[in-house]
Amino acid sequence: MIIGQFEGPFDAHVHMRQEGILKLVAPHTAMRFGAAIIMPNTKPPIVDAKQMTNYYDAVAGEAEFGYWSDRTSRKEDYDGFCPLMTLYLTEQTTAKTVKQAQATGKLAGVKLYPRGATHNSDEGVDLDRLGALDETFRYLSDANIRLLIHGEVPEGPRIDREKEFLPIVEKLCEVYPNLPVVLEHISTAESARFVHEHTQVAATVTPHHLLVDYDSVVDTNGIIRDCHLFCNPIPKFERDRQALLNLAFNCERSFYGSDSAPHIIESKENIQPGHEPVAGIFNTLTGLETVYKLFLEHGRADKFGDFTASRGRKIYDLPTSPQSTPKLVVAETPSGVPLVIDDGHGIVIANFRGGEWIDFRCLLEPFV
Ligand code: NCD
Ligand code: ZN
Repeated sequence: MIIGQFEGPFDAHVHMRQEGILKLVAPHTAMRFGAAIIMPNTKPPIVDAKQMTNYYDAVAGEAEFGYWSDRTSRKEDYDGFCPLMTLYLTEQTTAKTVKQAQATGKLAGVKLYPRGATHNSDEGVDLDRLGALDETFRYLSDANIRLLIHGEVPEGPRIDREKEFLPIVEKLCEVYPNLPVVLEHISTAESARFVHEHTQVAATVTPHHLLVDYDSVVDTNGIIRDCHLFCNPIPKFERDRQALLNLAFNCERSFYGSDSAPHIIESKENIQPGHEPVAGIFNTLTGLETVYKLFLEHGRADKFGDFTASRGRKIYDLPTSPQSTPKLVVAETPSGVPLVIDDGHGIVIANFRGGEWIDFRCLLEPFV
């Protein structure tokens, strides 16, 4: 039973990888989102205009292929999925590098990964060398290009890494008061408060940080108990989850970024003793459904469209016209979530909430 229609969602933070994984995951995003911001932490990372354009072509190609391959006729009212690209900030990124990427017309933002903070961040920036990027930050600020930040220090107890990064964001905001910042996948009550108090800063919030808590991921001995819930930043505690929910309901500068991060199942499950599974949750098939249910349970379903579409679109200056964006159809169709998606050629990726029963399905109109 169809229970609601909303503006086509916008995923402001998604990892699509390359080649086989890209081929497998891109259509799943394209069936649910009108547009998405594609993260640049590929191997090698996306560091210049040429790589960015090639990556755009690859993503758009796979999303398109997935859409048309199982349909017989084109729907005239659907413009297709729009990938928005990011550049990976390295210590060599100059204003000229950014300008060239900007000239392609496909650049949505520049992503700062503290070196060593997360998956494929080895070419990121040492936090004591941020000052060397002054010219680049000034250019971003002058050109009103967003700086997307993975806001964790790379060392120390996992639960403190995000909190300890906030003074660095505070400093950046002081030095560059016109630099538009997006704090990515925030996970703490402190970050939620920070966003609330800094009009220069927006934030993406993931479905898993709205649902999952630390104890579901890590056991009392500090050992990871569920490799499929292990991600950066690690989910925190109930007070943090409540603060994130409140931000998602109420703050115009908070919006949906799935941080859907596919990894082949072996790199999650087949881990040598003493090693950790790779971090990242693939939530493309269940993220919107998870958020819809949470918003409904809190009596805030009226804010679902704001959070998953219009606020993010506004922050990134995307068109909101209903003509260019197919509607999201929410149906009450209880169904089991498949444990994995599988390309039939050896790539298998575990779904967030795989094996669970969920109450809703969220798909763009052409795919219902
Ligand atoms: C992401 C990935 O796998 O690329 N992993 C994650 O745990 N979120 C990287 C990131 O966004 O931190
Ligand atoms: Zn991410």
